[in-house]
Amino acid sequence: MSKSKPAKPATKKSTGRKQAASRSTAPQESQARQQAGAEAVRGDSTVTPAASPAEGGSLTIDIGISAEDRQQIATELSRFLADAYTLYLKTHNFHWNVTGPMFNALHTMFETQYTEQWGALDDIAERIRALGYNAPGSYAEFMRLTSIPEEPGATEAMDWRGMVRQLVIGNEAVCRSARKALDVADDADDEPTEDLLIQRLQTHEKYAWMLRSLLQ
Ligand SMILES: [Fe+2]
Repeated sequence: MSKSKPAKPATKKSTGRKQAASRSTAPQESQARQQAGAEAVRGDSTVTPAASPAEGGSLTIDIGISAEDRQQIATELSRFLADAYTLYLKTHNFHWNVTGPMFNALHTMFETQYTEQWGALDDIAERIRALGYNAPGSYAEFMRLTSIPEEPGATEAMDWRGMVRQLVIGNEAVCRSARKALDVADDADDEPTEDLLIQRLQTHEKYAWMLRSLLQ
């Protein structure tokens, strides 16, 4: 674990969730809470429950995070994955299509960034799986979930400054969705997800800074 978490004062937001979580640990409420979690899962179209094991019946996931929290974390991670994938594709697109006097520097810089981003996508998707949900993995799902407008493609050479501007905006959008997912994971004491998201935040904030510097 690369992250050390300082003691956090109870905030109005986290207090409510923590209290709800501790109340729900009472045995008599456990079944009702699991039922509520299952209802939430069925009512949410963002994430899909992972298939049950083929043999051994329905072996309930019990990693110390409630079903409701796992569902909420997986939902935010799915949105984060969609943003991260869309930014990855846009960065790779611009690696291919960049032109102009900055070609060498940007062609190389974009390659460094999309290569690193590609590796991280796997970690995000597999964390969603570990929480018991299917990871989105189609363009249709990513387009539905992402907050980043897709680059439609140009018939003429694109301005390199416009590309860099789009990537600054895209990296910042990824940071915002990471923070939203981090907030939910923090409330549920899901340290592995927090650790993953903090690493991604550090990287995407750095990319946003490096790209923004090209425009100054
Ligand atoms: Fe290439």
